[in-house]
Amino acid sequence: MAKKGRILSGHRPTGQLHLGHLEGTLRTWAGLQDDYECFFEIADWHALTTDFEETEALRENIEQVAIDWLAAGLDPERSVLFVQSDVKEHAELHLLLSMVTPVSWLERCPTYKEQRDQIGEEKTAGYGFLGYPVLQAADIIIYKADTVPIGKDQLPHLELTREIVRRFNNFYGNVFPEPQAMFSEFALVPGTDGRKMSKSYGNTIDLADEPDEIEQKIRKMFTDPTKIYQGDAGHPDKCPVFVYHGIYNKARTEPIKAACESGDLGCVDCKAEVTEKLLAALAPVMARRRELEADRDLVRDVLDSGAEQARQVAAATMEDVRAAMKL
Ligand code: TRP
Repeated sequence: MAKKGRILSGHRPTGQLHLGHLEGTLRTWAGLQDDYECFFEIADWHALTTDFEETEALRENIEQVAIDWLAAGLDPERSVLFVQSDVKEHAELHLLLSMVTPVSWLERCPTYKEQRDQIGEEKTAGYGFLGYPVLQAADIIIYKADTVPIGKDQLPHLELTREIVRRFNNFYGNVFPEPQAMFSEFALVPGTDGRKMSKSYGNTIDLADEPDEIEQKIRKMFTDPTKIYQGDAGHPDKCPVFVYHGIYNKARTEPIKAACESGDLGCVDCKAEVTEKLLAALAPVMARRRELEADRDLVRDVLDSGAEQARQVAAATMEDVRAAMKL
């Protein structure tokens, strides 16, 4: 069957993934596997651009991401799942692209400035970090991917990729397609404190959490601060628990909303109901996760064979690149 195009997307090996990743990213990726040729990359070199000092956890973090991906339905029979550093061709292309990428483009990149403010000078002063988007461009175009499913936060990197492609093609001929962003239609899952779910905020529900941990996290979850006692009128539109109902308890959002607003439904019962639904939705993912935890050889085999498949495509592109550049 003819595919609609080729996808590459990736994630840094941040360790265990959470509900935000599952609902915002992984379900989208899993749903694309029949229609597109898919490459999904664990970007360990990208992790090093800021976390170059402590690397002890890197290998385990890579495997944890792989386990979460497989548990969430990324399927090695249909997609290529691989680790960036297993495909050295990315490094060669990164080097060559760095020749045609003006430093001013990189210094102007909004994520560069944001990250420097957020995580500080010490971790972001490196040459590698400045070149983060160049490496990301190499990741994408080495597979001649035309479609890149990403979050809005990654858009500046994709724009840079497109600019680099135009410049490269302009110098050396039409080697690379200009990739397009694809945005997920899935809901943003708020963290247990109502902010964006993020490991750095300590407000995540992880795919590796046990059901009783999840129950506890939801029991303590932030709700509408003006609803203190059962009987008080709530404001579901300001309550992150209500967002969870919207994702895991869709059929009941209207009655839940009405009962919260009238004060008939207290937060304890509301949370208990959504916890049950959430755990039911997560059960197959958690079960698969447990199997994979117990079979690390399988996980490593998936990544090894993914690297082999990725390498073939990447190596063929590098032949084109060297020929175009007369190397
Ligand atoms: N920068 C991405 C992130 O932090 C990870 C990434 C690396 C990526 N290479 C990529 C995403 C290529 C899309 C395409 O989430």
